[in-house]
Amino acid sequence: MTSVNEKRSLPFFGVGKVLPYMKKYRKTLLIMILCGLMSTGVDLLIPQFQRYSLNHFIGGATLDTLPWFILIYVIAISMTGIMNYISCSYAMRTEVCVNRDLRNAAFSHLQTLSFSYFNQNSVGYIHARVISDTSRIGSLVSWSLMDSVWHLSYLVGAVVVMLAVNARLALMVMAILPLIVILFSFFQARLIKVNREVRELNSRITSDFNEGITGAKTIKTLVIENKMAKDFVNDTGAMRKKSVRVSHLRGMFSATLNVASSLALAIVLWQGGYIAENEVGTFSMFMNYAQGMMEPVRWLIDAISDLITTQVNIERFSRLMETQSDVTDTPQVLEKYGDSFNPKRENWEEIQGDIEFRNVDFMYPDGDEYVLENFSLKIPFGSNIAIVGETGAGKSTLVNLVCRFFEPTKGQVLIDGRDARERSQLWLHSAIGYVLQTPHLFSGTIRENLLYGNPNATEEEIWRALKLVSAEEVVNKMEKGLDSDVGEGGDMLSTGEKQLISFARAILADPRILVLDEATASVDTLTEQKIQSAIETIIKGRTSLVIAHRLSTVKNADLILVVRDGKIIEQGKHTELLKARGHYYSLYTRQYEEEATSSLFANA
Ligand SMILES: Nc1ncnc2c1ncn2[C@@H]1O[C@H](COP(=O)(O)OP(=O)(O)O)[C@@H](O)[C@H]1O
Ligand SMILES: [Mg+2]
Repeated sequence: MTSVNEKRSLPFFGVGKVLPYMKKYRKTLLIMILCGLMSTGVDLLIPQFQRYSLNHFIGGATLDTLPWFILIYVIAISMTGIMNYISCSYAMRTEVCVNRDLRNAAFSHLQTLSFSYFNQNSVGYIHARVISDTSRIGSLVSWSLMDSVWHLSYLVGAVVVMLAVNARLALMVMAILPLIVILFSFFQARLIKVNREVRELNSRITSDFNEGITGAKTIKTLVIENKMAKDFVNDTGAMRKKSVRVSHLRGMFSATLNVASSLALAIVLWQGGYIAENEVGTFSMFMNYAQGMMEPVRWLIDAISDLITTQVNIERFSRLMETQSDVTDTPQVLEKYGDSFNPKRENWEEIQGDIEFRNVDFMYPDGDEYVLENFSLKIPFGSNIAIVGETGAGKSTLVNLVCRFFEPTKGQVLIDGRDARERSQLWLHSAIGYVLQTPHLFSGTIRENLLYGNPNATEEEIWRALKLVSAEEVVNKMEKGLDSDVGEGGDMLSTGEKQLISFARAILADPRILVLDEATASVDTLTEQKIQSAIETIIKGRTSLVIAHRLSTVKNADLILVVRDGKIIEQGKHTELLKARGHYYSLYTRQYEEEATSSLFANA
């Protein structure tokens, strides 16, 4: 019993978190509630009208007041129409506005979260927080609120009028209310449970469906069409079963409602004799109220269960809003350097590009072992560092720390001789160019994408950057040149082409520090050669960290770091490392042999 009570009290606790978003719409909500109350007021009057007409026009058999009666009746009915219209449109307005505010707040907040949040939460999860949770909350604070006002006030009004007219009969009618509440709650609890199961199945079906489409190639090559189809049929079958159960429950629910109102009616009929015989009107009024009370009770229980289910949405939404970035700037830093939405660039020091790791220990927030331990390294400005090693060795981790996407668990990363945490993330990020293995372009034109690198770049600078990385061809062969659309995520271009564009974008930004994480891993050999010569051009005059999967591309680096299990096991120039005949030597010869063999096969 206590657990039920706890559950019931929780919703009101959760709604508190939404109040700040409703505050702005106080006036709209107030008008909505007032109009709702007025319309219920008229609804409550209708049985009174009937009572009057029955008592006077039929019982009393005089029609003197009929014209007045008609006039007032018409006015009252028009009033409810107007009030209904106003409260509905205000509820709609609140829903739309609160929705928009919640989404904007969520999106802005997401922009402030660090890399690791996106690492740990799937796109689907985040999408649901921003889109569906907000819409459930929006409808709760508008429609559910309005429904509760309507029905609660009707219920209270009906009870008060009945008590006033005939307390004894009123109490008898009300005696069945607790029974009804218990019955309704019983069905409602089951409905909530089955509905939740339906929703879960639904999301599984959606994700199966998405995978079936996005993974079409993989599915075909693995020849698992049959299995995928079977899984899908199973899920949709389960969905059908559950949905049928929902309609069963709903049907039983309505039947109970009918029985309940008949019961109330029966009580009035049975006990109605106590009412004076000439008061036919009063008798009919009681019947009306007794029946009319059932619907509000059902709605109220509905509204409460809405509140309970929406609780989950509110919780998840507020959890997102309360998530603090793993990497945050201190108040002092924010004071001086500003934040992403309001950077104080005038206070920013010019960035040099010296990087130093000092006794760094690092474990991923969701990891369980140290990736780096007591790691130290100095990278003076202008050096060209290559990082090589097997998959999982910790290469990307190193550059993630330089970019401050993560912070050391212990120790320091220093930029220009000062702990990175003494300056803002934005300050650092504005000086870093980062090109990944899977380049990302935004939907829009090529020009728009390049301008993300530097919004003030001139036409001439754009073309110079494109030429530098031999990407003019990519642009020239497109129908509208720079103004060609690249599609969502750059879909209209090949990976290699996207990579060249993202290089040009990085050049336009003119960063002091350039990070390339396996930038050539997913392109063909020809493009790789182009990109390789592009890299040689653009790393000049910058500190560069190049993670390369092909060792032939790092021969000219100032320093090659060989990483294994999070430790630098060898470092030096290409020739020195080869001479040392260590890990680098074996990696190199193995790759050399593999390439020789594959080219042998290619020529055969
Ligand atoms: N976001 C992460 N959370 C937890 N562990 C991670 C994460 N990213 C990488 N790791 C782990 O850290 C180690 C180094 O990974 P990484 O730096 O990505 O290697 P590389 O880039 O050399 O292939 C691996 O053991 C990997 O499993
Ligand atoms: Mg990596």
